[in-house]
Amino acid sequence: MNKRQFIHAIALAVSLLAASNSIAQGNTFKIGLILPMTGQQASTGRQIEAAAKLYMAQNGDTVAGKKVGLIVKDDTSIPDVTKRLAQDLVVNDKVNVLAGFGITPSALATAPIATQSKTPLVVMAAATSSITQASPYVVRTSFTLAQAAVAMGDWAPKNGIKKVVTLVSDYGPGIDAEKYFKERFLFNGGQVPESLRVPLRNPDFAPFLQKVRDLKPDALFVFVPSGAGAAVMKQFLERGMDKAGIKLIGTGDVTDDDQLNGMGDGALGVVTSHHYSTAHPSAVNKKFVEAFGKANPGLRPNFMAVGGYDGMRVIYEALKATKGQGGGDALLAAMKGQIFESPRGPMFIDAQTRDVVHNIYLRKVEKKDGQLYNVEFDVIKDVKDPGKAK
Ligand code: PHB
Repeated sequence: MNKRQFIHAIALAVSLLAASNSIAQGNTFKIGLILPMTGQQASTGRQIEAAAKLYMAQNGDTVAGKKVGLIVKDDTSIPDVTKRLAQDLVVNDKVNVLAGFGITPSALATAPIATQSKTPLVVMAAATSSITQASPYVVRTSFTLAQAAVAMGDWAPKNGIKKVVTLVSDYGPGIDAEKYFKERFLFNGGQVPESLRVPLRNPDFAPFLQKVRDLKPDALFVFVPSGAGAAVMKQFLERGMDKAGIKLIGTGDVTDDDQLNGMGDGALGVVTSHHYSTAHPSAVNKKFVEAFGKANPGLRPNFMAVGGYDGMRVIYEALKATKGQGGGDALLAAMKGQIFESPRGPMFIDAQTRDVVHNIYLRKVEKKDGQLYNVEFDVIKDVKDPGKAK
């Protein structure tokens, strides 16, 4: 082979490689799943990854002629890292959809990338109302704190709870939970003598709980993100707050099904409001819980898992509806307005707001077959995000 032939051969090889790459690109559909797999929010990452993989195992990884590829990245719940990973997934991996987002600051940091690149961004965990307004490419399959908190603001005063101190993590979802609970509870004639906010990172609940004890409210309303509930429950019980006649209430994040069993009998009777319980009594949920447990021994799905599972469903159905040909705008259009039965119950993606509409349940911690569950006893149907009207 002379020099010219050699250069020719190399050029041919390079162009063949490029062509095969573009064929591969053309036949794959990539989902960039950014989650906190380590650090304080690691349980959220573990739950959502397990649920996404279960959805793919149940529904196949070839959809509308495309091979679906899931690329999981650990952002350690640091928003700058989430943003950098999203940029890399869009520019280098050329993902079709961004998904995951364990905490609100991670979703907000990434929203501009979705807008600039016209990539749908499916929020499976984060739950501050304003996230869907940060980019027209955001679609949410988790929930909002406003949805859950308003339900508690109605339930508590009807059940002998007149004076409540609120205690929330000091960032987006906590501030929403405080605002929407308080607004509704005060409207219903309740009193909130004190609203306390604890730092998101490495919180020490002890001084706050001492203050609550001194104020002697009928109940303490709590929001902490999934994974932090056990620490609150432990310190609440250690300080004998329950014995002092103070009830613990909150959104269902505090009695998260991932941790609830480890909280012990002290958690019995705690009433929360939320969109999902492992114990939700439907055939769809029973099947989901069973399959999830089989694929992940020792783990039961919590509300984060359901956000991930339903998010995959929304992505798969959009891929089907666009026959594998859709760019970001077509996929987004096919995500809007989807309506289906989730393990949580009926759910739909409001086409106007791109936010989830679903039932909110009142639940009480009970023991069944030696395990603790959030057992649903009342329901508010088809709840839209109250945070959108303002
Ligand atoms: C959030 O950061 O938006 C978030 C995280 C965990 C939750 C709820 C909301 O349980």
